[in-house]
Amino acid sequence: MSQQYGTIISTFDSPSTRKFAFTVNKDIIVHRGQFVELDVVNGKLIGRISDIFKTNRYFMRPESVTEVAKSGRQMDWDYPVWEHEYLVAEVSALGVFKDGRFGESTFPPSPGTKVMEPDHKVLFDFFGLDPEGLHLGKLAHHDVDVKINATRLLQKHMAILAISGAGKSYLTSVLLEELLNRDPEKGQIATIIIDPHGEYSHFLEDPKFANKVKVFKASEFKIGVPNLSAHMLTKFAPDSSSGVQTRELNRIMREMDDVYGLDELTGKVETDEKIKSATKDILISLLENLKYTGLFGVADYPSLEDTARQGEVTILDLSKEINLHNKQIMTAYIAKKLFDARRNGIIPPFLLIVEEAHQFAPEKSQKQTSISKGIIETIAREGRKFHSSLCLISQRPVQLSTTALSQCNTHVILKVTNPYDLKHIGESSEGITKPVLRQISSLNVGSGLIVGEGVNFPVFINIRSRGPGTGSGKGMSLEKAAVEYYKRIAQKKKDAKGFM
Ligand SMILES: Nc1ncnc2c1ncn2[C@@H]1O[C@H](COP(=O)(O)OP(=O)(O)O)[C@@H](O)[C@H]1O
Ligand SMILES: [Mg+2]
Repeated sequence: MSQQYGTIISTFDSPSTRKFAFTVNKDIIVHRGQFVELDVVNGKLIGRISDIFKTNRYFMRPESVTEVAKSGRQMDWDYPVWEHEYLVAEVSALGVFKDGRFGESTFPPSPGTKVMEPDHKVLFDFFGLDPEGLHLGKLAHHDVDVKINATRLLQKHMAILAISGAGKSYLTSVLLEELLNRDPEKGQIATIIIDPHGEYSHFLEDPKFANKVKVFKASEFKIGVPNLSAHMLTKFAPDSSSGVQTRELNRIMREMDDVYGLDELTGKVETDEKIKSATKDILISLLENLKYTGLFGVADYPSLEDTARQGEVTILDLSKEINLHNKQIMTAYIAKKLFDARRNGIIPPFLLIVEEAHQFAPEKSQKQTSISKGIIETIAREGRKFHSSLCLISQRPVQLSTTALSQCNTHVILKVTNPYDLKHIGESSEGITKPVLRQISSLNVGSGLIVGEGVNFPVFINIRSRGPGTGSGKGMSLEKAAVEYYKRIAQKKKDAKGFM
């Protein structure tokens, strides 16, 4: 049985269709952000408490409060002042629920109407949650599981935005767990994650998931040269070449056998008699530059089958690769390969998660640092039709491609403090008001706001905990790391002494 929170009062400009205030019953505690439910003529109105204040008529007149204070007495020595303290909550009306459907609030509730704790099922339906959805956490202030329909969350792409340390990777791990735990009958997708900090390899240590997760390291990664067009190959080079060079390279690549690497290709260019020598020199230097990256071979590694596995997760661990250009080449190649294969229907629907997305699809970029930007923007624009989804993660939304970000229809926003990023988020996420923006800047680790396609209304959630022993290992404090280092060095010295 839902409890009564209070009763609507009449104020100068409310109740209206958009807002009202209620006095809170004694012994009831409500919080800003909490939801309420009440009867209105056309159904059940759901509202969110936007603010709470206290009133007390004993403290309303400055002269009497001042005089009492001056006399050295306290108000409560003479009057029963605390009995007259009232809590008043202001509510913004979100919508009206009737016969399983939600509509706008178009008629005000009456003063005197009872304001109730909302029924959990009503809240669940109100936000458009799905019992079979991906379980990311609980509604803030309510014991309601936030389970978001996978299609609504992912098909039109999602973004996770927050400052560093706010819990982006933790939330992503929760999402991965949900995807890995999904039954085949409910629809499983292949998930691929670009992991610049090696934060996800720990899934391999979890017996529940180890057999469904593969990790490939940057040092093992190879792009099979025969799988590339001349156009793609030249795009990977820092100084892109002209049409003539690409045309000549294309001709030569067509004349190659099925299996060859950059060495063989360079050899063929060197001995080719049809190319002008200036073009030849440029092509050879371009191929030498590509060889220098160490990323090219005779075949792809991992193979397409190992990259996109239904119901499973493939992690591309780039933590040991320091060269951004190389990281971009790998990301661009994987993204393009996945998207092409999906368009041809030869891999399952997939989700490509890109951590540090602003590095791979920067808003402002020079040619050589935007190798992966084009394909990420293409998937953002066209992926939906082919069930190719993106999850872009970034701590600098301002620096992330606006084209890509604006195509991410669901945003999960954890704590953000930078004013430029906040402004950008306010502009790029629908339904975010100024008070909500203020709340975003004061969120705690593990709390966030979901807005957009995935939910009917913006909703604050507490991200669910992961199982025990599943820490990312990245959370060690500075002191602990320093102490561990000290102990290790001390032990080494002791061992060395013992040896002498
Ligand atoms: N929902 C959560 N519950 C418990 N701990 C969390 C939660 N979110 C983040 N943390 C912890 O906070 C720290 C930072 O989280 P992380 O996901 O690495 O942040 P980010 O990726 O945004 O930099 C980690 O130690 C992580 O375990
Ligand atoms: Mg992170």
